[in-house]
Amino acid sequence: MRFDTVIKGGTCVTASEMFAADIGISGGRIAALGEGLNGEDVIDARGKLVMPGGIEAHAHIAQNSATGGMTADDYTSGSISAAFGGNSCIIPFAAQHRGMGVTETLDLYDSRAIGASVLDYSYHLIVSDPTEKVLAEELPAAFLRGITSFKLFMTYDKMLVNDAQFLDVLSVAKTHGALTMVHAENAGMIKWMTDRLLACGLTAPKYHALSHPALAEEEAIHRAICMAKLVDAPLLIVHVSTPKGAALVQSARAQGAKIYGETCPQYLFLTRDDMDKPGMEGAALMCSPPLRDAATQDVLWQHIQSGTFDVVSSDHSPYRMDETGKLAHGEGAPFTVIANGMPGIGARLPMLFSEGVGKGRITLPEFVALSSTNAARLYGLLPQKGTLTVGADADIAIWDPDKRGRICVDNQHDNAGYSPFEGWEVQGLPITVLSRGKRVVDQGALLARAGHGQFLVRAKFDAGGRMGYLAPELDPAQNFGADIAP
Ligand code: URP
Ligand code: ZN
Ligand code: ZN
Repeated sequence: MRFDTVIKGGTCVTASEMFAADIGISGGRIAALGEGLNGEDVIDARGKLVMPGGIEAHAHIAQNSATGGMTADDYTSGSISAAFGGNSCIIPFAAQHRGMGVTETLDLYDSRAIGASVLDYSYHLIVSDPTEKVLAEELPAAFLRGITSFKLFMTYDKMLVNDAQFLDVLSVAKTHGALTMVHAENAGMIKWMTDRLLACGLTAPKYHALSHPALAEEEAIHRAICMAKLVDAPLLIVHVSTPKGAALVQSARAQGAKIYGETCPQYLFLTRDDMDKPGMEGAALMCSPPLRDAATQDVLWQHIQSGTFDVVSSDHSPYRMDETGKLAHGEGAPFTVIANGMPGIGARLPMLFSEGVGKGRITLPEFVALSSTNAARLYGLLPQKGTLTVGADADIAIWDPDKRGRICVDNQHDNAGYSPFEGWEVQGLPITVLSRGKRVVDQGALLARAGHGQFLVRAKFDAGGRMGYLAPELDPAQNFGADIAP
C-alpha cells in the first residue's frame, strides 16, 4: 500500500506512550502506524518527535473585548501564529454581548472565521445574557450546531452573570452534554480594591494586579465549584492563577466532582514585578486574573505535575500597545480602561516544552496530554483530534527536541506587536505541522492558505465514567422524592 504521505523514522508520542513508528496518511487521516511504510510524499522524522498537533483551547481571536476593543488578531493571523507554535487546531471564543442573541453571535463569528483560518477551529460560546429564550431555545440550538462548551464570567461588569443565572446555564449545559467554563474572580472584591487604588491616585497598569487579589479568585472558584456540585454539572475553571484556587480544583476532583482546571504560561513564567515599568509599559502584561509571584509559580508547576490541571492554554488576548489596543484611551489612562490580556498563542507550546519537558518537570506524554489530548477529550474532539491513532485526522506536529531558539515578536507571526516572553531562550521547537495531512507549516514556511481550516462540529462532553456529585437536596432518595434535578 502506498500512502499519500508517510512520516518516517520518528518517535511517536501520545498522552500514554512513546514508540518508534512510521505514520501512513491517506485522505487526510492516519491510515497506518507501522514499519517500512511507503508514500508519495515522505517526511524524514529521524531524530524527531512526532506528536498530535497542539489544540489551543483558550484564545480570543476576532473578538470584541469586555472593554469594547477588537483583538489584534483575526482568524488568519491567529491561526497562523498558532500553527507556527505547533498547534493544528484552535478553539477561540464567540462572545455574546448583552442584547445579542446566541444564534446572532454564532452567525457573526462564522462570518469572521469561515474562509479565514489555516487550522480547523470551533468556538466556545461566551454567554453573558442568559435570557429565557437563550436558555430554552438558543443554547440547545448552539449545541446542535456542534458548540458543546459555554463560558461564563463572574467578573467584568458587561459580561458577568449572577449565581442564579450561572446555575441556569450549568443546568442547560448538563442536560445537553456541554461543558461550562468559568472565569472565576469575585467582582465585588475587584471593584472595592479598584475604588481604593483610584482614590489614592494609583492608576498605573501595575496596580491592576493589586486590584484583582488572589482572594477574589479563591472565593469565586470556591463558589463556582459549589454551584457545579449542586447540579452535578461538569465545570472547567480557566486560567487558574493561585495556589488556593488550584487546591480547590484538586480537592473537588478528589471528591469525584466533574471539575477540571486550566492554567496558562504567563502564570508560570511571569510575575507582577514584571509590570513595574515606567509609563504605560506595564500594560503589555495586564491580564485577568493578574500575574502573581514566584512562590505561586512553583505551586502551579506542582499542580501541573500532580494532574490538577488538564490543560495549559495561552489565553491569547492580543491588543497592540497603541491606540488600536491597550492605549486606546491614551498615555496615562487608568488601568480600568486598558484592555486585559496578552498574546501567547505561538509561544505556549515552545515554552511548555522547553521549561516543562526540557527541565524535567513533565514527561513527553504529559506534554501531549496538556497540550492536545486533554483538550480534545474535554471539548468533544477525541479521537478525531488529539491523538495518533488509525482513523484520526492527520493533525500532527513534528518537533526537533534539540533545536534552540529565542521567543521574539518577529517569530510569533501574530499581530500584537510584542511578546510577553521576548528574549526567552527555548530548546525544542516544532518544525512541521500537518492539518488533515496537509503541511501547514514546514521549516519556517507557511504552506497553507486561509480557508484550509474547517469548522469542527464537536461531540458531547463525556466525563468518561467519573461518578460526579449529587447534592442531597437534589437527590429524590433524600429530598422527599422531589424531582427537581436538571
Ligand atoms: O485578561 C485576559 N485574560 N483577557 C482575556 C479575557 C479573559 O478574561 O479571559
Ligand atoms: Zn477569562
Ligand atoms: Zn481568556
